[in-house]
This record gives sequence, structure tokens and C-alpha cells, in this order.
Amino acid sequence: MKKQLIRESNLQSFCQGDQLYLQPGFILSPGALDKARDLGIKIVRDNADCNSDGIVSQSQQKAISEAPSSASPAGHEFIMPRQSLLGFGCLNQGIERLKALNCKKVLVVTDAVLNKTGLVSSVTDRFVAQGIDAVIYDGTLPNPTTANVSEGLAMLNRHQCDTVVSLGGGSPHDCAKAIALLATNGGEIKDYEGVDKSTNPCLPLVAINTTAGTASEMTRFCIITNEQTHIKMAIVDQNVTPAIAINDPELMLGMPAGLTAATGMDALTHAIEAFLSANASPVTDAVASKAIKLVAQYLPRAVKDGTDRKAREQMAYAQYMAGMAFNSSGLGYVHAMAHQLGGKYGLPHGICNAILLPHVMTYNLPVSAEKLSDVARYLGCDVYGLGAQEAAVLGIKEVCRLLLEVGVPASLTEQGVKVEDIPEMAINALKDACAATNPRQGTQAEIEQIFKNAL
Ligand SMILES: NC(=O)c1ccc[n+]([C@@H]2O[C@H](COP(=O)([O-])OP(=O)(O)OC[C@H]3O[C@@H](n4cnc5c(N)ncnc54)[C@H](O)[C@@H]3O)[C@@H](O)[C@H]2O)c1
Ligand SMILES: [Zn+2]
Repeated sequence: MKKQLIRESNLQSFCQGDQLYLQPGFILSPGALDKARDLGIKIVRDNADCNSDGIVSQSQQKAISEAPSSASPAGHEFIMPRQSLLGFGCLNQGIERLKALNCKKVLVVTDAVLNKTGLVSSVTDRFVAQGIDAVIYDGTLPNPTTANVSEGLAMLNRHQCDTVVSLGGGSPHDCAKAIALLATNGGEIKDYEGVDKSTNPCLPLVAINTTAGTASEMTRFCIITNEQTHIKMAIVDQNVTPAIAINDPELMLGMPAGLTAATGMDALTHAIEAFLSANASPVTDAVASKAIKLVAQYLPRAVKDGTDRKAREQMAYAQYMAGMAFNSSGLGYVHAMAHQLGGKYGLPHGICNAILLPHVMTYNLPVSAEKLSDVARYLGCDVYGLGAQEAAVLGIKEVCRLLLEVGVPASLTEQGVKVEDIPEMAINALKDACAATNPRQGTQAEIEQIFKNAL
């Protein structure tokens, strides 16, 4: 029964004996609070000090910030690719590393646009020069589907490939992860929805990244759209972590301004959600905060001039560090809600995040003012002399200003989102794996309101 409560209130790591420890700034939902009391579980820090707006008082904030930093008896886990290569020219080294895997024939998972531009052949020609055969699957859609995974897997089996290489942005990486996982575990990809459902390591997987970005080239996340339900399934499994992650900014120079902006805002969202996450740690805070600073400084430059090599390189590092952060800490409601928009309307992931980000930050403000005020500083706001609350609001305004500067659409209505779809999307957002680590746990009505605020 207790386990059920813990699962329902998304607090798996905070329960010790009969005491439920709430992480700094975490407010338990009224339903979970009642259930905890019914079960005789003592809430060690509950929201008794919140005022009627749900704002934690200064004394409570002080107590929270001085409490032992790890309320989680389970500690934190950090998962990374075996090798990561970053910086201009690192693809050469990546091809050497691929050769060292002793592969004979690779399945290259990519998309039709990149194949048409000639980028794919420029890379596969280099494989062939090294004696590595390459078969190309270029059917991956943005928001890759279960059908994409089946097609790619059939091709892998038909050609008896021994290694999978993804070449592109988050969509080819996720599709390749799913193919490589099924190749060694069998079944269908929906069998692996959730956390660590597989038993075997996936086929050797090398991810060559061309956007900045999702960081999918280095994470244990794999997001596949179920074509029947139009829901994006989150497969969170250490067995899908690529063996080698390659971020050569040379491959990112060709991104148009709109794609640069959308993918860059995805990276910023990863960093901010990881920083605010209920499962954040000093390690994830360090990389998330650096990622926020780099995006604030270099994303406008990369959007303005795609050939700005310094900006492209710094964005590659920024998105990678944001990935290091959320791969361990998890994300939050921006992603839980964006996945619904991607699944239902096929909208670009980065655009959905960008539109929702300031609204979810505002929702989290009552419990995360301190951390949001840090975010404001990392974004470059002058917060001198301001209290946490005022500084946090400045940070949210700065995100809105940045959205305008890089030219990302401001509303979901412009994207064709319909008000009548909101209740179903809110229900599914609360079930999404990313919702668990949002610092403030909400009701369906609250999630609906956030969607409406973003219309
Ligand atoms: N697994 C994870 O950790 C994770 C994290 C965040 C997002 N995602 C997923 O990633 C997907 C989004 O990926 P994305 O934003 O990188 O875009 P994408 O891979 O869907 O690509 C979008 C478009 O950009 C084009 N493109 C890619 N690189 C280019 C380049 N260098 N120059 C010109 N065009 C280029 C592609 O051909 C495609 O048409 C979503 O499905 C999302 O759910 C996964
Ligand atoms: Zn994302």
C-alpha cells in the first residue's frame, strides 16, 4: 500500500521507514497528502508553511535550503556513453573508433531530407573507405513512429548488419535506439515503455549528431510515437545509451535559422527542467547551469549567423551538457506536455517546448523561486538587490525575450492546437515518465490551465 502511495505521488526516492521526506521546494498534491496521513506516514516537510497562493514562506525556504541536500536514500545514478567526441573535426576520430568496434556492415538510420542534401553519402563514403559496408534506412519521420522502427529492423535483419549508426537529429537517434534494442531483445518497442524494461544490451550503437539539440546521441531516453494511440512513448533504458556519441559542429553548420532556434530552445528546456527537477543533484546542477549560460550567450549568435563556428561549437557543448543533466535528474512538465503535442499534432519537439517553457516556469514559481532566481542569473539577468521571487520573474521574462529574439512562435493556437483536445492531453501528460520529477505536482485541471495559458 505504501509502495502504491509512493508510486502515485511520484516520490519513489524519498520514503524512509514511516517518514516521507519532501525534497527542497516539493509540495505534495492534496490527494497524496491525504493518502499519506491515512496510512500513518509522517510528512517530514510538508507545505504547511505555504500561504494561500501556495508560496513557501521565507522561514520554510531557509529550513529547506539548510536541510541535508540528499533527501533520497537511493542517491543518484549517472549514465553516459562509453565514449563521447566533441568539437570540430571529431568525426574523423569517430570513424576510427567505429572501425575499432570490428563491425563489418552498419545500418545507417537517418531521414530523407539529410539523405537528399548529400550529407549522408559524405559520411558513408568515409565508412566504405575504411572497409565498412553501409546500408541506409532513411525513412525516419520527425517524431519517429513504431512503423519506422519495424521498417528499420526488417532492413537490419535482411542485410545482416552487426552495428547501428544514427546520423541526424533526435528522430534518427531515437529510431536507431529502438531498432538496436529490439535486435537483441526481441518483441515490439511498446513492450519497453517505462524504465529499464529490457534485459540485454542493444546492438553496438554509434550516434552522429547533426542538431543541437535533443542530446539523444548520449542519453538513455528513446521517444517513439505509437501510431495507433498517437502517444509518444518514453523508453527510458540504460541499454539504449549509444556506445559512442559524436558531436562534430561541422555537421551542424547547415541547419537553417528556424531549426537552430527550435533545437536550441529544446536544449535550454532540458537544462532548466533538469535544474529544477525534484531529482536534481550537485552534479546535474553543475552541468545544467553551464548549459543555460552557453545557450543564452550563443544561441542568438547561431540563429543570426549559421556559419558562426564558435557559436555552433558552444551550442554543441551546451546541448550535450544539458543531456548529461537530464539523463540523470529527469525532466518535468514542459516535456510531459510537449510529448502530447508532438504525438497528437506531429509538431516539432523544440517548438512545443519553447512555447510551454515560460508557462511551466511560472507554474513552478511557488516552489522553485530560489532555483528560478539562479536561472535568471545564468541567463544573464541583473538580479542585484532583488529577492528570489522578483529575480525568478525576471528570469521567466528573459526566456520570453529570448524566444522573440530567436523567432520561435509564441502560442499553441498558431500551431493549430485545439482547446477541445486539452483535457485528454492533460490526462496523458500526467502519465508521461517526465512528469514524475517536476518540482510541483499538479492536478489535471492545473495542467489543462497551463495548456490554456499557452494557447
Ligand atoms: N531521446 C532523447 O533523449 C530525446 C530528447 C529530446 C527530444 N527527443 C526527440 O527528438 C526528436 C526531435 O529531434 P530534433 O529536434 O533533433 O529534430 P529531427 O531529428 O526531428 O530533425 C528535424 C529536421 O531537421 C533536419 N536536420 C537535421 N539536422 C540537420 C542539419 N544539420 N542541417 C539541416 N537540416 C537538418 C532533419 O532532416 C529533419 O527534417 C523528437 O522526436 C523528440 O521527441 C529525444
Ligand atoms: Zn527535449
